[in-house]
Amino acid sequence: MYGRVVGVAVVGIRGHIVTVEAHIGRGLPSLTLTGQPGAQALDARDRIRPAVESAGLEWPLRRVVVNLSPGNLRKDGPGLDLPIAMAVMAASAQVPKARLERHAFSGELSLKGSLVATPGVLSVAMAAAARGLAGVVVPEANAAEARLVNGLEVVAAPSLTEVVGFLRGAWKPPDVRSDPQGGATSHSMDFNEVRGQAQARRALEVAAAGGHNVLMVGSPGAGKTMLAKRLPTILPALSRDEALEVTQLHSVAGLLGSSGLVAERPFRTPHHSISLAGLLGGGSGYLRPGEVSLAHHGVLFLDELTEFRRDAIQGLRQPLEDGRVVVTRVSGAVEFPARFTLVAAANPCPCGFQGDPKRICRCEPHRAEVYRQKLSGPLLDRIDIQLSVPRLSKAELLGQEPGEPSASIRERVEVARDRQRHRYRGLRIPCNAQLPGPMARREARLSRTAEGLLARAVESLALTGRGFDRALKVARTIADLAGFEVVEETHLGEALSYRMNLGGEELARAG
Ligand SMILES: Nc1ncnc2c1ncn2[C@@H]1O[C@H](COP(=O)(O)OP(=O)(O)O)[C@@H](O)[C@H]1O
Ligand SMILES: [Mg+2]
Ligand SMILES: [Zn+2]
Repeated sequence: MYGRVVGVAVVGIRGHIVTVEAHIGRGLPSLTLTGQPGAQALDARDRIRPAVESAGLEWPLRRVVVNLSPGNLRKDGPGLDLPIAMAVMAASAQVPKARLERHAFSGELSLKGSLVATPGVLSVAMAAAARGLAGVVVPEANAAEARLVNGLEVVAAPSLTEVVGFLRGAWKPPDVRSDPQGGATSHSMDFNEVRGQAQARRALEVAAAGGHNVLMVGSPGAGKTMLAKRLPTILPALSRDEALEVTQLHSVAGLLGSSGLVAERPFRTPHHSISLAGLLGGGSGYLRPGEVSLAHHGVLFLDELTEFRRDAIQGLRQPLEDGRVVVTRVSGAVEFPARFTLVAAANPCPCGFQGDPKRICRCEPHRAEVYRQKLSGPLLDRIDIQLSVPRLSKAELLGQEPGEPSASIRERVEVARDRQRHRYRGLRIPCNAQLPGPMARREARLSRTAEGLLARAVESLALTGRGFDRALKVARTIADLAGFEVVEETHLGEALSYRMNLGGEELARAG
């Protein structure tokens, strides 16, 4: 007695079609899983029988073998519960085989037979559509994300009972009016709430326009967090494909809930005590994306940068370089997308008040020096824009006009991004920040006076090769914002002002 059902294993954010075959033969009652099931798939063995029996179905009291193929793929995730259960139902002739071939099944079962919210359902639906299947059978809680895939029938079922009813032609999922997908984004925050801080606002506009990473140094209360949180509001809207990728990541992480498309750029703020797995991805059971991937196409905000563990900071280098993160374990390596804008914030010294107009820094010179060295550590050469954010007094805060709203800043950012897209079309370079060094030197064509300024800066600022390339990329962005093809002296001058004097250049050269 034999039954076959299509399931999907999610590896990273990609769904892989898995054929689930069940065979019922002679022998003592047992359930054996073969074909490289992962730890969570193996767990399914204990859940499935009670779930089947709770749904009023019969568990065959014989020897049941379930094989997952292809054999070379390690298959994990709770979503395999449902296809395994259905394969056994098919093998024991409790459901007709007609519709089994046309749908992919995914969903975690509770002991009572209900289908509970399952991570990765969007990836499952995308894989089913790519395979040309007619539809997917998934938990009701995951219906919205599955419906994001065009032309796919979504059978959203509350429990095993309805799935069996559907296959027997006795139950139909309720009709849903598909809601408009990827509607207008509405941010709850706006740059017009930030008073003053002209330089920081401008720096964040440049960062948004070129995709540059930012470091803000300033006393507590200066408004660093407030500014960082508003960066997503001036970034260009997500394209549909980008939004789908972000949604896939949040779904695989189990953070999507019952919502559909994530249409807003993510803003993630991991605490400095976060584990390496939490930041980069990993964990027990199947691999989950970390904060770097949850920030994909959005902003990763590291507040109190100097407090983060060294290995965490080191681990950020790969995603910052490649836009993806590879998580390795004994069972193999899994890759997640992780292209984010990094915004880091730090105090200028341990007490926080060095350079503050109203408060006195009480740090010992030695401790302040150690702190600066920490700040100028391994990440600084990946941060194109570095600036001080001064703390405003109450009078200054009250005296300032409300700032320009995010929407009008975003318009300029989008124009600058269009220029970059046009310039780098066909090159897979999304923005100036991603320009490789040699290309930055070519694409940021300098006017004669800008050439002169650069020559002087190399001397007086002791620019390293990296610092040189960073300044050119930022200057390219500033020229794009101004609508110039040639980089003028003022553009380069502004770019050169976005650097911390921490001795970082010297350290980078020594390292
Ligand atoms: N430029 C500003 N405009 C309006 N409010 C501000 C400004 N700077 C600081 N604030 C107020 O001070 C609070 C603390 O700022 P915050 O961003 O937390 O500072 P930091 O992160 O630098 O310690 C903010 O929540 C905000 O209410
Ligand atoms: Mg803060
Ligand atoms: Zn201090």
